[in-house]
Amino acid sequence: MIPTHVAIIMDGNGRWAKMRGKERIYGHYEGTESVRACCEYAVEAGVRWLSLFAFSEENWARPEAEVTELMHLMAKSILNERPTFEKNNIRFIVVGNRSRLSEALNRDIDGAMAETAANTGLSLVIFLSYSGRWDIEQAAERWAADGAPEGRYGDYLATAGIPDPDLLIRTSGEQRISNFLLWQCAYTEFYFTPVLWPDFRKAEFRKALEDYASRQRRFGKTGDQITQETNDSK
Ligand code: FPP
Repeated sequence: MIPTHVAIIMDGNGRWAKMRGKERIYGHYEGTESVRACCEYAVEAGVRWLSLFAFSEENWARPEAEVTELMHLMAKSILNERPTFEKNNIRFIVVGNRSRLSEALNRDIDGAMAETAANTGLSLVIFLSYSGRWDIEQAAERWAADGAPEGRYGDYLATAGIPDPDLLIRTSGEQRISNFLLWQCAYTEFYFTPVLWPDFRKAEFRKALEDYASRQRRFGKTGDQITQETNDSK
């Protein structure tokens, strides 16, 4: 089974650069090549949604120079990749606390989102200035203000309209969720790999999808129930 939605915590850029005696930003630049490779492979494999945790709310606390460089890299990537989105029928979406982003970056994001809104291939969701707790809080405020409509909480999350991830990948050997999609990962399968993000390309992505395919998702039910349901649907 190919997961409909894969979310990735892209980690290890800094260490990758340091191992080569280079500045951290060099790792982020190399990481953009992995972003490209993973988008291409997602299209090839038939993944419908690819979510990438590019910058967390907590990342604002990094040294100012690195934050500036990362924002510059985002803006540059959006501009550079716009033709690729068109060519590959990719819909580009940004999710996060956009009030913290610069006006210029927000303009570029709006432009790319509008231009690709009607594309029907892979939906690429970039999480910028995002954190799971921020999302839960902002949703709760708006949901309560609307009179707490029953069963509709998910519509207030910043990810409204995006299916929950089937698979969450984290690179670089860390085994934690780091305030990413806290609500949305209730039944997500996790895949951790020691590979650093700049080295996570097609072959590594394929391995993660193969691992996912070997799992049985039960959503709180028993294995026997799932087997029965699978047989019934054949
Ligand atoms: C984590 O590595 C990576 C980030 C905080 C930034 C990820 C950004 C990119 C790959 C750049 C481009 C993205 C897009 C969507 C164009 P780290 O710095 O935490 O590495 P470390 O843990 O080794 O220090």
